Formats: sequence, C-alpha cells, structure tokens
Amino acid sequence: MTRTSTQKDDTGRSIPLYGPEGFAGMAAAGKVAARCLDFITDYIRPGVSTAELDRLCEDFMRQAGAVPATIGYHGYRHATCISVNHVVTHGIPDEKKILVPGDILNIDVTPRLDGWHGDSSRMYVVGETSVKARRLIAATHEALMAGIAAVRPGATLGDVGWAIQQVAQRERFSIVRDFCGHGVGKVFHDAPQVLHYGRPGTGIVLEPGMIFTIEPMFNAGRPEVKVLADGWTAVTRDRSLSAQFEHSIGVTENGVEIFTLSA
Ligand code: MF3
Ligand code: CO
Ligand code: CO
Repeated sequence: MTRTSTQKDDTGRSIPLYGPEGFAGMAAAGKVAARCLDFITDYIRPGVSTAELDRLCEDFMRQAGAVPATIGYHGYRHATCISVNHVVTHGIPDEKKILVPGDILNIDVTPRLDGWHGDSSRMYVVGETSVKARRLIAATHEALMAGIAAVRPGATLGDVGWAIQQVAQRERFSIVRDFCGHGVGKVFHDAPQVLHYGRPGTGIVLEPGMIFTIEPMFNAGRPEVKVLADGWTAVTRDRSLSAQFEHSIGVTENGVEIFTLSA
C-alpha cells in the first residue's frame, strides 16, 4: 500500500509517498534509462534515422529486462520520443527522419522495470552545431540541475520552477508552458504536476517520499508550441530550436535522490 500526502495537486489528485522499496525500484528502473541514454550516444551520426535509434533503444531496454512504457501509452507505438531541432517534445521515430550534421535532438525513454518507471531524456548533437544551439542545450541542462538542487523537504514546487526560470531569464531563452513534469513511480504520469516556472514559496510543499520528474523545455525563440496533425509531435510555432532534459527524482529526508543519473 502506498501512502499519500495530505496535499492534493491542482488537478485534485493526491500525491503518492513512497518508502524504501519505491526508492529501490525507481533506482533500478532509472539506471536502465541512464544506461540506455549512454548506450545510444555512439549511434548518433549523420545518416542514421530516428526509427533506427528507436529500435536500438527498444532492444537495449528489453535486454535489460524492462518494457518501454511508451508503447501502448494513449496509443503511442514507439519505445522512445525523438525530438529533432524545432521539435519540442514527443517527436515520433521515423524511418524518413535522417539525421544531418548540426542537428540537435532529444531522446526520451521510460523503461518500466518490475512496475517502476524510469523517465529520462537528454540532448545529443550530430557532429558540430551552432554556438546558439550549444548555449540552448547548456542552459536547459543547467536549469534542470538548478531545479533539482532546489528539491528538499519543506521547499515547494514553486521554488523548483523559480530556479529553472532564473536560468532561462539570465540566458534569454523562453520556457515552454504547455508541458510539465509529473509524479512518476508505479504510475507513468501521476500527481503532482511540476511546472518549469513559478514563484518561491508557492505550490505543493515537498515531503520525503515524493517522486516526480523535472523536464524543462527551453526555446531559442518564442515559447508557443503547436501539436502537429499526428497528435503527438510538438513544435515551436516560430520554428526556433528547442531543447529538453529530464530526470526522475525522489525527495529524501535530507534532500534529493536522482534516479536517472548515469554512473
Ligand atoms: N516520456 C515522456 C515524458 O517525459 C512521455 C512520453 S509519452 C509518449 O513524460 F506517449 F509520447 F511516449
Ligand atoms: Co516525463
Ligand atoms: Co520522458
């Protein structure tokens, strides 16, 4: 039986609190995600299709004893989301999408291992890219880690969002508001919603045992996105570049545990 917090999120859902078994399960699932994202690095080169990268990640996850949780999720059919250049998130792997030098891409995986979901994503660069693209990627990663650094019992989700927002403002990038982080654990997408902007001291108060993702998306241009006719692919409306990083984390007695860090 999972305990729940007495706090409810904006959607009225209660927030699960996990104990040592949950943290151990998430650490194991998160490790598969991290190793998968490490493994795929060597395959990122001009000429490879995003469908091929998806197959490689799927095989990796299955060989690790995990199931890609995205397959069958609201009708999604792939083991990964691969979002190239102006694709913000939920890019669909495609035989026809061939990487070329200068592309930047996010690969997002969620292996489910023994019922636990390790949700993580990273950016990759094909060959060499522009200074602007490199700055965007570095700022988005810095923002994720700043958000994670704000996590400890008694801090709030507003503190997390604020920490992320400070990096975006300093680096003059915009924050995508249409997608957020989420509770994760036995359920792939659970309460609470984790916004990537906020005000200090507002929102849910963090308690030991809460487990959620932080997954900021920054755009080089305007923040607005649109979802294409396939129902998944989210792109920047102005076609500017977008970057995203994601970790699954747990609130501990003293601070935070990152489940999806690579060793
Ligand atoms: N992994 C994504 C997330 O970070 C969700 C992908 S759902 C899919 O929450 F169906 F698009 F794969
Ligand atoms: Co997620
Ligand atoms: Co994800």
